[in-house]
Amino acid sequence: MTVKSHGAIGGSIVGRGAATPQAAYLPGSEPMNVMDIERVSLSFGGVHALADVSVPAEKEKITAVIGPNGAGKTSLFNVISGFYWPQQGTVKLEGQDITNVRPHRRAFMGIARTFQNVALFRGMTVLDNVKLGAHTGLRSGLLDACLYLGRAKREEAALREQIEGEVISLLEIDHIRHKPVEELPYGLQKRVELARALVMRPKLLLLDEPVAGMNREEKDEMARFILDVRHRWRATVLLIEHDMGMVMDISDHVVVLNFGKQIASGTPEQIKANPDVISAYLGDASSTEQTATAGPDGR
Ligand SMILES: Nc1ncnc2c1ncn2[C@@H]1O[C@H](COP(=O)(O)OP(=O)(O)OP(=O)(O)O)[C@@H](O)[C@H]1O
Ligand SMILES: [Mg+2]
Repeated sequence: MTVKSHGAIGGSIVGRGAATPQAAYLPGSEPMNVMDIERVSLSFGGVHALADVSVPAEKEKITAVIGPNGAGKTSLFNVISGFYWPQQGTVKLEGQDITNVRPHRRAFMGIARTFQNVALFRGMTVLDNVKLGAHTGLRSGLLDACLYLGRAKREEAALREQIEGEVISLLEIDHIRHKPVEELPYGLQKRVELARALVMRPKLLLLDEPVAGMNREEKDEMARFILDVRHRWRATVLLIEHDMGMVMDISDHVVVLNFGKQIASGTPEQIKANPDVISAYLGDASSTEQTATAGPDGR
């Protein structure tokens, strides 16, 4: 069974020296990858949530992380966001080692995410929820805002313009901007959560099961929005998703985890044909849970 504990700090730093920022690319050249997760291991007691996992997130590409339930996908996102600290391995953002950087700093540095279970503020409108994301990207914090009202006001106005002009219209949620989020159907709530992440103008967008619980039409819509975000904003996306049809349709690269281990990495076509992946999804005939899960060919 999967333990959902977003926000909790699990694992600990064991056997890792001080983090030394180092470039994974030549000075003056552009890093190929926005993020590099290198040989990360994370255990909870005897449970090896991640064992020697390496995932690159290539600039302006969609990289999917797939695997059966409990494979370690959300744990990987928690390591990237800084909620879990791995016992081994390195997390690099644009070549810089951020393994020891706190979660809120990582958000400032440009890592945004949506959660497996919708995490919106009930009782607040769509617009207010979306604006909460933008606060992370602003130079004026709350204290700042008290001290420098002028600057804060100007930023507020610019922020509003940015939200209205780009994110809200891109995600087609204009008509519901003043609605309390709890009144919205689930599919729209997921879209609002994506909007909140996007107003941070993230370098790296982490999407944890963005279409879970949606009907086919909502799934297709969300897939289109993710592609739009990637094409029009040149976003770099790491995507966790169980819907294999969608993964194979929109991803550039796919990494497969199973019981915390990385069992494959390649293009969607390579992954579909990989015998280890097929057997991880289909399992042996006695495993009803695994046979019920869609295989990597999307069926
Ligand atoms: N905070 C925690 N404490 C203890 N065990 C944990 C914790 N977080 C994750 N785990 C364990 O790590 C393993 C991987 O869990 P994780 O949530 O990362 O899987 P997942 O691939 O996201 O699964 P799903 O597809 O069901 O969301 C599971 O065995 C889970 O029980
Ligand atoms: Mg998960």
